[in-house]
Amino acid sequence: MKKILVTGGLGFIGSHTVVELQNEGFDVVIVDNLSNSSENVMDGIVAITGKKPIFEKFDLRDKLKVEDFFTRNTDVEGVIHFAASKAVGESVENPLLYYENNIGVLVYMLQALSKKGSANFIFSSSCTVYGQADEMPITENAPVKPAESPYGNTKQVGEEIIKDTCRVNPQLSAIALRYFNPIGAHPTVEIGELPIGVPQNLLPYITQTGIGLREQLSVFGDDYPTTDGTCIRDYIHVVDVAKAHVAALKRLVEDNNEQNFEVFNLGTGTGSSVLEVIQSFERVTGEKLKYRIAPRREGDVIQAYADTQKANKILGWKAESTLDDAMKSAWDWEKKMRKSEEKVSV
Ligand code: NAD
Ligand code: WQD
Repeated sequence: MKKILVTGGLGFIGSHTVVELQNEGFDVVIVDNLSNSSENVMDGIVAITGKKPIFEKFDLRDKLKVEDFFTRNTDVEGVIHFAASKAVGESVENPLLYYENNIGVLVYMLQALSKKGSANFIFSSSCTVYGQADEMPITENAPVKPAESPYGNTKQVGEEIIKDTCRVNPQLSAIALRYFNPIGAHPTVEIGELPIGVPQNLLPYITQTGIGLREQLSVFGDDYPTTDGTCIRDYIHVVDVAKAHVAALKRLVEDNNEQNFEVFNLGTGTGSSVLEVIQSFERVTGEKLKYRIAPRREGDVIQAYADTQKANKILGWKAESTLDDAMKSAWDWEKKMRKSEEKVSV
């Protein structure tokens, strides 16, 4: 069985990917420092798959520990690198934290992999690299625009670092996956998103408002040049995102790729406005959502949705879930989390 290292494997997208990898027969080792996750996520993974992945808790910013890991695990055939810090606002306040965690750690991983006879690497990139693209849907050939934040910069520079490394290391094969807006939870409701503090992203803010944890949602701007004036994004079910990682990994492991560095968009191909997402919540839950129109949020692009043809054709992967499917799973997960909190406080 092929052994795969998943860094950040107890996080939101990582945990869903670990489930899909185990379902496909891969052996998984997770490295996570629990800086934005919890060991309880492991229980959810075991409940879904019946299998417990190996878990090593350490901070990947410790270069010696990264080297030691690869010395002890020479049989690792692929690495999926999710571990990073991801709060855009925090990256503006504390850029060096982001450069250390998102760039420093990436360099350590690539240094370790460059020493191996052959290595496969998948990187979590983001549609943020496109900024406000000139044409919709966005293809992988659209130009990368100057980053709006240190976080966005780490994804652009991260891709460049991987590309440069692959050029001089033909034994290294890498894929960067540019996620659009991953949302939702596993349909079993055993794992999902665990936002810490006040959510910055739309979906957790909506479900927390729906459950009564937040008073109302602020819709950031309704005067954009879109059909209803609110911003448009490509919301994709996290399970679809997870499955794309398995498809990308298979491509790398089976050595089907001609170039040793490739980039793919992961989206549904459909754009939804903020008001359409609210309507989805109301349709799925049968409840009204309290919201108000607020000023625009600085740095927001007007619209971003993916052209998914490259991933469809080359990876043989396509997003299967609808916005309503993803919304339902996010809502079920929110209800379950609040119930377990009530139990704890009784
Ligand atoms: P997450 O915060 O839920 O998961 C990241 C995991 O990495 C966490 O479990 C955290 O504890 C761990 N981690 C962070 N730094 C670490 C370190 N130094 N050592 C060990 N473990 C560490 O985030 P996510 O939403 O699952 O995102 C995963 C990846 O996808 C990130 O690279 C993120 O930038 C990227 N991404 C996310 C989105 C999104 O909307 N969620 C969109 C585009 C790209
Ligand atoms: C979606 C839409 C908001 C909250 C961010 C990162 C990006 C990527 C994905 C990692 C926008 C609106 C939101 C709220 C609102 N992450 N909104 N009220 O901005 O597309 O991207 O996450 O790589 O880098 O910047 O996602 O969920 O924050 O916002 O009206 O309370 O919802 O204005 O139009 P975004 P989001």
